[in-house]
Amino acid sequence: MTATIDTGLTKAERNDVVQELSKVLADSFALYLKTHGYHWNVRGPEFFSYHTLLEEQYREVWAALDDIAERIRALGEFAPQAHSAFANLTSIKDGDPENDAPTMLKELMKDHETVIATCRAALAVADDEGDDVSVDLLTQRLAAHEKSAWMLRSTLGGR
Ligand SMILES: [Fe+2]
Repeated sequence: MTATIDTGLTKAERNDVVQELSKVLADSFALYLKTHGYHWNVRGPEFFSYHTLLEEQYREVWAALDDIAERIRALGEFAPQAHSAFANLTSIKDGDPENDAPTMLKELMKDHETVIATCRAALAVADDEGDDVSVDLLTQRLAAHEKSAWMLRSTLGGR
């Protein structure tokens, strides 16, 4: 008996969604790494509040990585797992520890917006392919990234 997949989605439908989820995973991994690095290297009179905010945010993204990767597995494909694979797939630029605190927070705010755009594109594909589980996951990721972007924006004095 072969272990074939019969979940109501065709291989082509599953592959289309996996391609998009792989980009979301790569962006999320890059944002996780950058947020954790800025948690370590941020400096200034507001150090403790920035350090704490960034910890909350990197922990949230870290937990999501597993959900996104395991969704790719449930769709029958391998999750990307190498630095080189993530580097090829992500649109997030590396952080710089020399940056001052406002530059770090502004970069992270824009990076959350980048992940939001990647999630929205992925959600549209998942919706087209009838993959409600991925639509649900991506809706949750959008909510989390919009909330993190708001917190960074407000910390910077914006609305
Ligand atoms: Fe820490």
